[in-house]
Amino acid sequence: MTKPSRKGILLAGGHGTRFYPATRSISKQLLPVYDKPMLYYPLTTLMLAGIRDILIIIWEHERALFEKLLGNGEQWGIRIQYAAQEKPRGIAEAFIIGEEFIGKDSVCLILGDNILYGEGIPAIMQEACQQPEGATIFGYYVQDPKRYGVIHFNDQGQPVDIVEKPQNPLSNYAAIGLYFYDNRVIDMAKQLKPSARGELEITDVTRAYLDQQKLQVTKLGRGTAWLDTGTPPAWLEASNFIQILEHRQGLKIGCPEEIAWRMGYIDNSQLLTLARPLLKSGYGHYLQELLT
Ligand code: DAU
Repeated sequence: MTKPSRKGILLAGGHGTRFYPATRSISKQLLPVYDKPMLYYPLTTLMLAGIRDILIIIWEHERALFEKLLGNGEQWGIRIQYAAQEKPRGIAEAFIIGEEFIGKDSVCLILGDNILYGEGIPAIMQEACQQPEGATIFGYYVQDPKRYGVIHFNDQGQPVDIVEKPQNPLSNYAAIGLYFYDNRVIDMAKQLKPSARGELEITDVTRAYLDQQKLQVTKLGRGTAWLDTGTPPAWLEASNFIQILEHRQGLKIGCPEEIAWRMGYIDNSQLLTLARPLLKSGYGHYLQELLT
């Protein structure tokens, strides 16, 4: 069977108001999480799934900053395009903005402030990429489900509802900011009505798939880390987590140059070229040492 083509969308707009004043003049997704920009983590998650065609949704006035950091992705053997969201009208607007980019393909959406780490993640994602139709989302057990989209399960463990930030959550399973949908998501997003908070809710898209019995929910195990870096305390926890693991192992998490090289998108000499301007921070040495 041939692999269905799957595009990637990384959502990096939003006002970042939960991070004010730090994000008054710069996108939250460009802030560093320990030693690299926040959006390197979701971007490399897409790369590990084998997704190479990626649309990044940004604020128009920040386009130059993103382009300076990531260019067109060619240096990492991927293709990055940008599209602007005029206002934070909700996560599901990504599919309307990205309609032309998605074309006839299916799509994986990842939120620019989500970090996913753990053995098995690339395999889980690659499997979701292969799903010919319907949707796949991921549930993660958290202490404070009220902050998230919450997935309710019946006694047989099947998903029966998904509710955005419920006052009285019926489960501890948060829907993480990573979603796989077939091409019908574009039309589904167009039919949505804004929620009480004025947003096109991603939860409503997912519920539409659930109602049609086309939703698969994969529970991520305890050995997986899912970190949302959307508030200063959560951001600091994420930075500490990355620092501890990177220091312990001497291996970087969310390093696009390394992943491009390991996936075979770039060769040794391209890796060395990427390393050269990064030597002063130590990041470049890390890339050079991958070859020894
Ligand atoms: O982190 C997972 C959660 O993300 C899910 O469990 C929820 O169901 C989902 O609604 C979302 O909740 P948040 O309240 O955390 O979403 P937030 O408004 O923080 O936006 C998440 C990212 O998407 C953030 O990087 C900003 C970006 N964004 C958001 C909106 C609403 C946009 O680029 N444009 C938007 O219109």
